[in-house]
Amino acid sequence: MSRPVSLAVLLLALVLVGCTSAGGTGGDATGDAARGEALFKQSTIGTASAPGCSTCHSLDGSTLVGPTQTGVVGRAEAAISSADYKGIAKTVEEYLKESIVTPDAFVEQGFTAGVMYQNFGKELSDQEVADLVAFLMTQK
Ligand code: HEC
Repeated sequence: MSRPVSLAVLLLALVLVGCTSAGGTGGDATGDAARGEALFKQSTIGTASAPGCSTCHSLDGSTLVGPTQTGVVGRAEAAISSADYKGIAKTVEEYLKESIVTPDAFVEQGFTAGVMYQNFGKELSDQEVADLVAFLMTQK
């Protein structure tokens, strides 16, 4: 490998490292819906290869293990304004993020606590969570 090429590779690596570590600053990553959709449809996800979202959540209105994600935005709006919700999150984005990283903070009506995989908060990066939230925001 000639010198200029290896320098370019090094610079690229530095840029990539910079981008990844920016995700770890407390959840301010900007989500990308297309990336989120691809993540949602993976059969496994996260550092421990947990079952993917689509194992338990359909996008066509049918109930699998968990509620379909079609219409999740409307359900989130209703949940946020319901009396038993107790202000866990104020916006739909916050609600969706909370549902992924702390699934039992608010359990969807008709479903049981503890069924959704509990460790996504540890095993997904802030960027991945932000991408998933951006995708779910398209499911009105
Ligand atoms: C093992 C099955 C399972 C997996 C895997 C799973 N979920 Fe869930 N999920 C559930 C169940 C059951 C509920 C309903 C109970 C609750 O609210 O915790 C739920 C609730 C939710 C909610 C609450 C809002 C609503 O009305 O639907 C969201 C958002 C959600 N999941 C997103 C995800 C995303 C994104 C992933 C992938 C990173 C995922 N889930 C992976 C089972 C799962």
